Amino acid sequence: MRISCANLKKDYSQLHAVNGVSISAEENRITCIVGRSGAGKSTLIRLLSLLEKADSGEVLYDGSRVDNLRQKEILSMRRSMGMIFQSFNLFSSRNVLKNVLYPLEVAKVAKHEAVRTAYSLLEMVGLADKAHDSISSLSGGQKQRVAIARSLVLSPKVLFCDEATSALDPQSTKDILQLIKSIQRELNLTVVMVTHQMEVVKSVCDYLVVMEDGRVIEEGEAQEHFANPRSDTLAMFLRDMMVGSDDEIKADYYLQFLGDVTEKPILSILSRKYNLDFNIKAGGTRNGGSKTMELGGLYVDIAGNEEDKRAAMKELREMSVKAVELTGKEGVR
Ligand SMILES: Nc1ncnc2c1ncn2[C@@H]1O[C@H](COP(=O)(O)OP(=O)(O)OP(=O)(O)O)[C@@H](O)[C@H]1O
Ligand SMILES: [Mg+2]
Repeated sequence: MRISCANLKKDYSQLHAVNGVSISAEENRITCIVGRSGAGKSTLIRLLSLLEKADSGEVLYDGSRVDNLRQKEILSMRRSMGMIFQSFNLFSSRNVLKNVLYPLEVAKVAKHEAVRTAYSLLEMVGLADKAHDSISSLSGGQKQRVAIARSLVLSPKVLFCDEATSALDPQSTKDILQLIKSIQRELNLTVVMVTHQMEVVKSVCDYLVVMEDGRVIEEGEAQEHFANPRSDTLAMFLRDMMVGSDDEIKADYYLQFLGDVTEKPILSILSRKYNLDFNIKAGGTRNGGSKTMELGGLYVDIAGNEEDKRAAMKELREMSVKAVELTGKEGVR
């Protein structure tokens, strides 16, 4: 199922949480929505999943408008979507199996069939042996597996994930992402994933949407935008992914480039041509998600006259090097 929206807007008093967003999440792929805290990602996913109503604009499933349906129809529509959250939202009073059974009970599915379905999903997420365990005895990763199993029992066509791995340790994060990816392929799901973790995006994203201040500031095929980020926000996310969060590094510019540019002595060429001094503070290269893509990043101070600096930056950009001016800019998180 294709999930799309046109000119969606949602205000909270004076604040434009979502401010004119039009995107499309295609079938059989993982669309990731990234952005700083407060960018409007969760609000957008709540609007797309019909948990909340927009002030204006449209939500469409397979091209048909759904946000204006009656409450009863919306409720039945919501059954065809799975949703998982950072906080798992499980019932602590119910054991693992009974959590997974819950949506089937609400949908009044016959008991024996419901139990069979629940077990097959627990099998799929690798927790069949824990069916009778209490939720409190599980690890975070296991809890998210239960939530995933529960979200899939009514055979949804779409899975919405809001920071599904943000509360997990790095290994559980990897496992859960792997699970989501394999389930997505197996069940041909449309997955819409909101996250502020670039590592998540790197490992699973097909289509990337970058949000800032309630708007989409960049979107497209993930690998392409990884290689050549258009916005400072995405460039900064990639920087964090490559070198970790690094408030200690003080530099004027962050330069991000793709593999083959790394091979050329571009800085010394520019240094001679424009009579500039490049002082490299930190940096390195790292695989950016695909086998063929090496990402490089350098923190540099540049000394010289302003006009020459601007000319050098222009030339860098023509070589597809993304130059982000760091002075006076906050980090991503
Ligand atoms: N129910 C609400 N009432 C009032 N303001 C809200 C509500 N929900 C969100 N906001 C505000 O709307 C803006 C967008 O919030 P949202 O939760 O969508 O951001 P986000 O991108 O998901 O951030 P985070 O990465 O921190 O989860 C924020 O400024 C937030 O404070
Ligand atoms: Mg959020």
